Amino acid sequence: MSALFGIDVGTSATKGVAIEPDGTVLAREEAEYPLSTPHAGWSEQNPEDWWRATETVLARLTETAGEPAGIGLSGQMHGLVALDSADRVLRPAILWNDQRTQAECDEIERTIGRDRLIELTGNRALTGFTAPKVLWLRNHEPDTYKRIAKIALPKDYVRLRLTGEHATDVSDASGTLLLDVAERRWSDDVLSALDIDPRWLPPGLESPAATGTTKDGTPVAAGAGDQAAGALGVGVDRPGPLSIALGTSGVVFAALDRFAADPQARVHAFCHAVPDAWHAMGVMLSAAGSLAWLRNATAPNTPFDTLLREAEAWPPGTENLIFLPYLAGERTPHADPDARGAFAGLSIRHDRGALVRAVLEGVAFALRDSLDLIAQLGAEPPNRGRISGGGARSDLWTRIVAAVLELPLERVAVDEGAALGAAILGGVAGGVWPDVHAGVQATVRPRDPVEPNPDWIEPYRDQRRRFKALYPALKGVLT
Ligand code: XUL
Repeated sequence: MSALFGIDVGTSATKGVAIEPDGTVLAREEAEYPLSTPHAGWSEQNPEDWWRATETVLARLTETAGEPAGIGLSGQMHGLVALDSADRVLRPAILWNDQRTQAECDEIERTIGRDRLIELTGNRALTGFTAPKVLWLRNHEPDTYKRIAKIALPKDYVRLRLTGEHATDVSDASGTLLLDVAERRWSDDVLSALDIDPRWLPPGLESPAATGTTKDGTPVAAGAGDQAAGALGVGVDRPGPLSIALGTSGVVFAALDRFAADPQARVHAFCHAVPDAWHAMGVMLSAAGSLAWLRNATAPNTPFDTLLREAEAWPPGTENLIFLPYLAGERTPHADPDARGAFAGLSIRHDRGALVRAVLEGVAFALRDSLDLIAQLGAEPPNRGRISGGGARSDLWTRIVAAVLELPLERVAVDEGAALGAAILGGVAGGVWPDVHAGVQATVRPRDPVEPNPDWIEPYRDQRRRFKALYPALKGVLT
């Protein structure tokens, strides 16, 4: 039986995985590219770099695993690639973590009305989303804007180069703010209110649908945004377990069997990569990124393991030391690009290990904020979490998150997350499985359950009350 390839067009690299239909990993490959910050708050990449990296990764996977039966694409969400009528890239892509569009977000919410926008799309206008970037081009680079014939999300630009087809999938399209998420189709109301030409948009398909083939005839699945694909990669294809991603950013993700949006859109309401399913998702911008920041700032040559060992010496709550992880602004729950981080409650006893422990705990409290908002949607309460990403390699951090969320957590055997989810979608498009659930069932293996430590639950409830009071107390002082 041939292999299945999953490609994840990430922010630092394109990652690829080749699996057998039973989930055995045949090959893993990665090719990196730079990110540019031409002005404070900007974040751009050259789409040509994504394509070159994808070609490299596909060639290396094929060398090891042979020609695949199907390929799935996943990628960083929300990025704007502007193309002219000959499909040439007009300017560098503006990425998900770019913060330049606050004025355009205000413009969108003024034009449509915030409540109406949430009614139409399930979401608020956030600086990282795609629609405000389109308006930013109209307001700031009118010459480029006039030449736009198509717009694409990052993985969909790669698809265009791979198959010649313009297409996207509804999970990734959910992050544009142009999709009627409940109905799983582009929103005519939003497009006409924002005066965006519907002909710029590709067809929005269900994630496992085939969207053309490579030049060698391999079917390529529509694929998914990296969070929806990552959820499949940890076996979150239906309500039950939550997906908790502890990467640079942090995500709490619940699969839903019906559309549900928070009335204030403090969590995102997006289509899942499974037909007839949706998801609610809280996104924090600096999760493992907060720990990386602390190490760079205070102990750049010290291994993470040493820092984590020092943190282990402190009790839960770190003697009332609190860290707010809003180093790069925050999405959930504050939707505040100007939010900033803080340590509060420092005493003379606190050492480096205490700072580390407070960071681990502050990130866990912020994840719990997302979980609490998801719980208010009235969906079936989660029975456990599947934790992935760099931070999940730390036992201490996993134990802290389990106690703060008050949920048992499991890791999975293959930690390629989004690339594995993409490979599952490629397998459905290639006819290996009848549907996404069968692909998840065949490939994802949970392991290492971590139960919440009963002795930590009360101290963390207590400390979380202080954590929640700190952001409102500092607002107006720091910004
Ligand atoms: C999701 C999000 C990030 C990006 C980059 O809403 O912004 O997860 O997809 O990974």
